[in-house]
Amino acid sequence: MKKKITLIGAGNIGGTLAHLLLIKKLGDIVLIDVMQGMPQGKALDLSQSSAVEGFSNTIQGSNDFSKMKNSDVVIITAGLPRKPGMSRDDLLEINGKIIKKIGLDIKKYCPKAFVICITNPLDAMVYVLQKYSKLPSSKCVGMAGILDSSRMKFFLSEALKVSINDIQTFVLGGHGDDMVPMVNHTTVGGIRLLDFIKNKKIPMSKINKILDRTRMGGGEIVKLLQRGSAFYAPASSAIQIAEAYLLDQKKLLPCAAYLNGQYGLKKMYMGVPVIIGSNGVEEIIEVKLDANEKKMLRTSVKSVQGLVKAVDKILN
Ligand code: NAI
Ligand code: 2OP
Repeated sequence: MKKKITLIGAGNIGGTLAHLLLIKKLGDIVLIDVMQGMPQGKALDLSQSSAVEGFSNTIQGSNDFSKMKNSDVVIITAGLPRKPGMSRDDLLEINGKIIKKIGLDIKKYCPKAFVICITNPLDAMVYVLQKYSKLPSSKCVGMAGILDSSRMKFFLSEALKVSINDIQTFVLGGHGDDMVPMVNHTTVGGIRLLDFIKNKKIPMSKINKILDRTRMGGGEIVKLLQRGSAFYAPASSAIQIAEAYLLDQKKLLPCAAYLNGQYGLKKMYMGVPVIIGSNGVEEIIEVKLDANEKKMLRTSVKSVQGLVKAVDKILN
């Protein structure tokens, strides 16, 4: 039986998600947006690529939110992206109201779905989504850490002149400028990055520049694009989560997950390594942090908690 995947938001990321999902033959797609004609147009365009790409899954565009009924997976990008000079947090109020309404729709139409939130400010939006959808926290995650880690892997592979496939790393914390890239947990072909630094294969100053560029990775693209924000890598990153769930891959991925005591934190969403399989978030992995990482994480946690408090005040 084909899976039903609903994409709420048919903009840059939504359209790219639809394209990737069809090419990967992961399910039948429903593309929903408030903009009249746009999801229908994109769906028709994508349908007309099926003869060339050889997929038999269907895609339907709509402005009717009830079309998400009985979805297996829902991926949310509805809302506004960043404009130059805007931080992710400036989007809090407008996107908070949109996500609250979508949460209530999910509760009504597909309470058994596995839901991935991409809309920014990510950690606060996935919190709002879970709160109003009342989904079990294992079935509601946010995508950001895969993107941030992927950016860091790319910059490291360029600097070290090694294949990106040899680099393993992850980013912890909120999807903000104070995210915590995990240098101590980075390996290159199984060898610790710290050994590369110790053996003078790369200076620490260059690593620090890479960490800063990772933290500011979204803003760098916003500035270049002038209109809108990154969408290819964010879409690929979300597909990795959907695929891990649909194919029960038990993948270890950095996702915004609901914490209930892990990392000493409760009742909040934040980026942590999790195992994704057919039960959704099957396990949250805790890693040992050194004093500096703990300090950086505390700063990131404070930012997320501030956003959650502010969004609760706006929406209640
Ligand atoms: P976009 O502007 O291209 O698409 C957003 C779409 O949402 C638009 O088509 C708009 O009509 C639609 N929309 C607005 N209100 C809606 C509603 N109430 N219901 C349904 N659809 C609605 O933006 P893009 O580039 O696709 O980005 C989407 C979101 O993802 C933004 O909030 C952006 O900041 C965020 N983002 C998050 C990343 C992450 O790592 N978590 C990475 C990149 C972007
Ligand atoms: C990004 O990191 C803007 O959050 C978005 O590209």
